[in-house]
Amino acid sequence: MLARSGGLRRQGVPRPRETRVLVVANQKGGVGKTTSTVNVAAGLAQLGQKVLVIDLDPQGNASTALGVEHHRGTPSTYDMLVDGQPLADVMTECADLPGLWAVPATIDLAGAEIELVSVVAREQRLARAIAAHPLVGTEDEVGDERFDYVFVDCPPSLGLLTLNALVAGREMFIPIQAEYYALEGLGMLLETVEMVRQHLNPGLTISTILLTMYDARTRLAAGVAEEVRGHFGDQVLKTAVPRSVRVSEAPSYGQTVMTYDPASAGALSYLEAAREIASKGAPA
Ligand SMILES: Nc1ncnc2c1ncn2[C@@H]1O[C@H](COP(=O)(O)OP(=O)(O)O)[C@@H](O)[C@H]1O
Ligand SMILES: [Mg+2]
Repeated sequence: MLARSGGLRRQGVPRPRETRVLVVANQKGGVGKTTSTVNVAAGLAQLGQKVLVIDLDPQGNASTALGVEHHRGTPSTYDMLVDGQPLADVMTECADLPGLWAVPATIDLAGAEIELVSVVAREQRLARAIAAHPLVGTEDEVGDERFDYVFVDCPPSLGLLTLNALVAGREMFIPIQAEYYALEGLGMLLETVEMVRQHLNPGLTISTILLTMYDARTRLAAGVAEEVRGHFGDQVLKTAVPRSVRVSEAPSYGQTVMTYDPASAGALSYLEAAREIASKGAPA
């Protein structure tokens, strides 16, 4: 198994010509947004890509899983969004994974939802911060040091924080838990996306759907998968991530499952999902 994951890793994937910004959103909590963000991001870094994760959830779960400090006072997403600090000043490289960078979320971010209401261009703060980073952009403009991927891990709501992400990203990445109520509530997310497309970010595209916590033994999971594929077609990744104890244990060691247990079924699935995202490329 180890040999297999090592083998997969060495194959690598092509770099995108321009930084791809993916917004990981679904206003339902507990569907696997954070888990998918950190593990796909880590998988891409293992495949040789330069990746940044922005933790946009005041809970700071992505920061925990990536092993980056996020106690009060740490330079964080809050400082970037509310105080206008440059992205370069709030990001750090993750110790375990070269090529993977993170902007942590501290509890201060809980107040941002309210504080941003009175700020100029309140929906554009994240978009501007990302665009202003000197290593975000095209191969021609930025060169080889550019970031290949930026992932934004959203909170489980459709407030100003998530809105900032939807304005900042070109692509939406929606994790869907393979369970009975999977599609319930997605209507509201899709309406929000449509609204953002019309008024704030015409290029926003749902590029990636990932089925999470998939239990291949049950007919229910297969039924949900069929329904999701019927609705979203090619946007749904072929890889589904199985429910796996190793995946849920990893964060308590400040790690992604990609370093915690790279040979586990969960890690191999996330690596495969990362590979699919990279090989499909950015939407036209
Ligand atoms: N494939 C998986 N196998 C087992 N547990 C998982 C898996 N994916 C996520 N979980 C667990 O489910 C819970 C919710 O996942 P999380 O990524 O935090 O969701 P969200 O960010 O959407 O709220 C967490 O406790 C996480 O460890
Ligand atoms: Mg989360």
